[in-house]
Amino acid sequence: MKVAPSLLSANFGNLEHDLDMINRSEAAMLHLDIMDGVFVPNISFGFPVIEYVQRLCKKPLDVHLMIVEPQKFVSQVRDTGATIMNVHYEVCPHLHRVVQQIKSAGMQAGVTINPATPVHMLRDIVADLDLVLLMSVNPGFGGQKFIPGTLRKVAELKQLIAETGSHAIIEVDGGVNDVTGRQLAEQGAEMVVAGNYVFKAADPLQAISTLAAL
Ligand code: DX5
Ligand code: ZN
Repeated sequence: MKVAPSLLSANFGNLEHDLDMINRSEAAMLHLDIMDGVFVPNISFGFPVIEYVQRLCKKPLDVHLMIVEPQKFVSQVRDTGATIMNVHYEVCPHLHRVVQQIKSAGMQAGVTINPATPVHMLRDIVADLDLVLLMSVNPGFGGQKFIPGTLRKVAELKQLIAETGSHAIIEVDGGVNDVTGRQLAEQGAEMVVAGNYVFKAADPLQAISTLAAL
């Protein structure tokens, strides 16, 4: 399983320390949660922090935008050196155009769906995507409880990807730990985001290894 630790749960008083841990870990990517206080009921951090993180982090960046009108920020996200740009289905009436803009900017395109959004809403876009991010909590906060219905959605998405000839990989975000991570792996998830499970662990490197081995 690919693991993308979420910086949201890191110690913002000493990011250098946590980024050094990430660099030495088995993490595949670093997940960055950007919130606007409009689409989600919380505000996290913005471009100056991403640019700082990019300078210190040796892992590719997986940027998860929980903001309205993400199309306005494609070039700014690209300029941070991000590898994947994830936008939410729920805020993009012209999703196909946004996906093409992300790809034209040289990034991999990810589309994220909330727990209440059905997988089949992605039927006409999934072949254009590099990644689908399934939210297994309502976005906005770290440390929430995994919503079990996500497991069925992973299986449905896997089938949709096969039917449409898509090469998109399946990533899941929210409430992931060793138990839910194993269940997700069994359904066919290929990458998990983990915030609290990694950064609140006594041994974060071991927590990442545990998930990577699933
Ligand atoms: C939630 C964010 C997640 C969050 C995950 O809105 O998208 O990436 O940081 O945190 P945990 O793993 O603690 O649920
Ligand atoms: Zn996220």
